[in-house]
Amino acid sequence: MNNFTLHTPTKILFGKGQVAQLREQLPRDARILITYGGGSVVRSGLLAQIRSELAGMTLFEFGGIEPNPTYETLMGAVELARAERVDFLLAVGGGSVLDGTKFIAAAAHYDPARDPWHILETVGGEVGSAIPLGTVLTLPATGSEMNAGAVISNLATQEKFAFHHSFPQFSILDPEATFSLPPFQVACGIADTFVHVMEQYLTVTGVSPLMDRWAEGILQTLIEIAPKIRANQHDYDQMANFMLCATMGLNGFIAMGVPQDWATHMIGHELTALHGVTHGQTLVVVLPALMSVMREQKKGKILQYGERVFGIREGSEDERIDRTIRATEEFFRSLGLATRLHELQIGQDTIDEIVRRFNERGSRLGE
Ligand code: NZQ
Ligand code: ZN
Repeated sequence: MNNFTLHTPTKILFGKGQVAQLREQLPRDARILITYGGGSVVRSGLLAQIRSELAGMTLFEFGGIEPNPTYETLMGAVELARAERVDFLLAVGGGSVLDGTKFIAAAAHYDPARDPWHILETVGGEVGSAIPLGTVLTLPATGSEMNAGAVISNLATQEKFAFHHSFPQFSILDPEATFSLPPFQVACGIADTFVHVMEQYLTVTGVSPLMDRWAEGILQTLIEIAPKIRANQHDYDQMANFMLCATMGLNGFIAMGVPQDWATHMIGHELTALHGVTHGQTLVVVLPALMSVMREQKKGKILQYGERVFGIREGSEDERIDRTIRATEEFFRSLGLATRLHELQIGQDTIDEIVRRFNERGSRLGE
């Protein structure tokens, strides 16, 4: 097992009605900037509820953070935060709003003489301080509610890069806040969660039986609940289980002492940067293909995954690997997602461009 540091400072307030706890989580005299996306929290009434919970506090608002949040949009919020001397950020929305808010937090305190895009180019390494933040999550998927990661896009250069700096101080996770999600976003959220676990699991065997079984537990839970959620998105208990899977999938708990891969995400981010494809959708196209290409190197783990997650025990190793890759792709298709590039009207030229970019950047993929 590798050495590791586990640091999980985020307080999670989970369940129905937990937004009533919001006021107590915030510093009393704070100047708070509430950030949100394209309007789902306005339509669902969540923003109005938050305003009323926080009545009498000093509040500012910044809406319009788009899916795959852009540097260009977020710089508007950075200006507002600087001008109003904001000292707490409250992100209300999905992973894009949470990630965007982590960027605002770091950029607002960044040297005003330097372009904050540099934060992405240096993966957060040069960030000194940041505005503290909390979140109210509306879309289970990214794990951003309990990790320090954020992925930001640059429209001008068509780039999408990640950085790591701030953990939310708290996150409120109410499964009822997910009831208004479009089915496609739910499917992408399940897919994203599944692939987060795979990136931390599908490496080599025999490093940590505990991490393996925690990862397999999340994968099996997702496979079990996905059809029930697709049949009834308003099933509180199933959505609660999904929400917890998503948080546990990327908060460090299944990564203790084990190697990680993340090649699927690195390639997926390029598909989003170049074509605007939704994050979870990119991953389900890349992962089965990546498993095929890496079938020799990842043989041991693919066989273990096939046996323990899908019950594939019969046949030669080659046959079992084939069936396991097929089962993975079929699970993604059962979510209603495309699993091939041509279904997204993406061709060989995009593959060539991604290879060119990786070579130019000296990117190194895999564990
Ligand atoms: O913008 P609004 O109007 O809020 O609508 C959003 C958006 O259109 C909508 N939505 C969210 N909650 C809703 C809702 N609609 C109705 N009811 C609700 N309750 O859903 C759409 C997608 O939202 P978005 O936040 O973009 O989705 P997601 O949570 O999947 O976040 C995706 C972003 O997270 C990054 C991705 O790259 C992508 O940019 N990731 C962040 C990670 C992290 N921080 O650790 C890791 C991930 O691997 C991922 O890369
Ligand atoms: Zn992801």
